[in-house]
Amino acid sequence: MFKIFSQTDGKMMSATSEDTVLEALRKAGINQINACGGDARCTTCRIYVMEGLRNCRSRNEKEMLVAEKMGFPEDIRLACQTRIKGDITIKRPVIDELDLKIVLKQFDNLPGTRLGREKEMAILFVDIENYTQFAEMSPAYDVVHVLNRYYQTMNEIIVQHRGIISDVAGDGILALFGLIEESENPVLDAVYTARDMNGALTQFNGYLKKMFEWSFSIRSGINFGKIIVGNFDTGTMRKISAIGDAVNIASRIENANKDFDTKLLISQSAKQKIEGLIRHKKLHRARLKGTSGEHLLYEVEI
Ligand code: FES
Repeated sequence: MFKIFSQTDGKMMSATSEDTVLEALRKAGINQINACGGDARCTTCRIYVMEGLRNCRSRNEKEMLVAEKMGFPEDIRLACQTRIKGDITIKRPVIDELDLKIVLKQFDNLPGTRLGREKEMAILFVDIENYTQFAEMSPAYDVVHVLNRYYQTMNEIIVQHRGIISDVAGDGILALFGLIEESENPVLDAVYTARDMNGALTQFNGYLKKMFEWSFSIRSGINFGKIIVGNFDTGTMRKISAIGDAVNIASRIENANKDFDTKLLISQSAKQKIEGLIRHKKLHRARLKGTSGEHLLYEVEI
């Protein structure tokens, strides 16, 4: 067991060699900000190592990548990635909303999220099939609570597969793959995400059944194409927005599940990226609202 002393909090805490500094802080009741959920993508969990830098294990690949982009000196480390092998003394520079704002603004300059970036990506839309009835029969508090729980669960899966949530609207989630973290096959990541989201739903439904005698099922649509992404900041809200036909088509594909009674449909361009890797069982021809001609959609077994 090693010791971490936080000068910011005047508090001593313990950490095993398995704990990240973030985990040790949280175990000690310190609410260390971690906007990306501990995935080395936001730098909001950064710490200054004041003493004992040699007792920190070397940066892993993820941390190295971000540290290079941000130009961090050796003694600025990501709490979510750093493990220790001896005692250290730290300072926590991000402790409130204002700090968070500053750090996120710095992070805006990272190439992965710069305004106006155009890139080919996989776009995943996911909707809850029977959400409206649930929302109509439940008090507002329960609806918000359940949705938050759902987003939280699904966000973990999206992040695990190198994706990022670009937007949520009601019960719908728009996630992008191939934007921030490089991936050999963003479409495959998106398909696995849809599969694992369906898997996670079984457990989520256990909770819903117990608490509300209800269960959800979800439908997903995946497209692959060039889109424009950028950070948009209204002053009170900041998000990564995705713009382009490929996004609209992904949303229409998700919608087409209703017509074909399917769970996951993908476009022709997405199918080409996973040819031979994932079984697609059926071909559907669909006219998608707002687009011309017929589109070939493929049902993927999940
Ligand atoms: S929590 Fe985002 S980088 Fe550590």
